[in-house]
Amino acid sequence: MSIVIKIAIDGPAAAGKSTIAKMTAEKLGYTYIDTGAMYRALAHKALSRNIDTTNGEELKNLLQETEIVLLPSTAGQAVIVDGIDVSEEIRSQQVTAHVSAVAIHQGVRELMVEKQRQLAEGTGVVMDGRDIGTAVLPTAELKIFMTASVEERASRRHIENDKRGITTSLDDLKAEISERDRADSEREVSPLRQATDAVLIDTTAMSIEEVANQISELAEKRMNL
Ligand code: DC
Repeated sequence: MSIVIKIAIDGPAAAGKSTIAKMTAEKLGYTYIDTGAMYRALAHKALSRNIDTTNGEELKNLLQETEIVLLPSTAGQAVIVDGIDVSEEIRSQQVTAHVSAVAIHQGVRELMVEKQRQLAEGTGVVMDGRDIGTAVLPTAELKIFMTASVEERASRRHIENDKRGITTSLDDLKAEISERDRADSEREVSPLRQATDAVLIDTTAMSIEEVANQISELAEKRMNL
């Protein structure tokens, strides 16, 4: 018998989680949820209102009065905040530099986790982030921890930025990714960790297709238990 499952994909910054999660969701006809985009959406709104990113209480209040909608789009996922499409803006260097600070706060995370669980309720999902297998969907049937060397991740992001017409130095990207990994792994609330029952995939020497195929095979096995 084939069952509908939940798939959690976690891992460090720029490991290719979103690309793979989106491909897997499309293949299975599941909902794709990019939780990083939700933290980015809050960081973007906070920055536009000059809210101090160290003030957890204010950020939590801001999130309470914010509507974040994720819609499927050809580019991945459109992110609509309070009715405005901010899909491009949330990928800016400024948001990237501040998002980990926003994601540190317990009150913010509790609300985000609640929203994320609601989005996943009663449907097949592929959700990617940092704490999906450990905190958001601890009973997910398939958990993946996707990683790659920092050099490889920076190089992939460099190529991606080039295609989008954004000039960045490889060294700056390496430093930014390493710093985000450090902040995300060292925070007190739900730090980036591989769940004990997650399958580790090191994608450093793998193509996107190879990773997607491996995850599809694992998903098939879990669906046909
Ligand atoms: O996946 P991303 O790079 O777009 O995520 C942006 C940041 O959001 C990441 O550096 C940490 C935070 N994040 C988080 O704390 N928990 C998640 N589930 C997803 C992202």
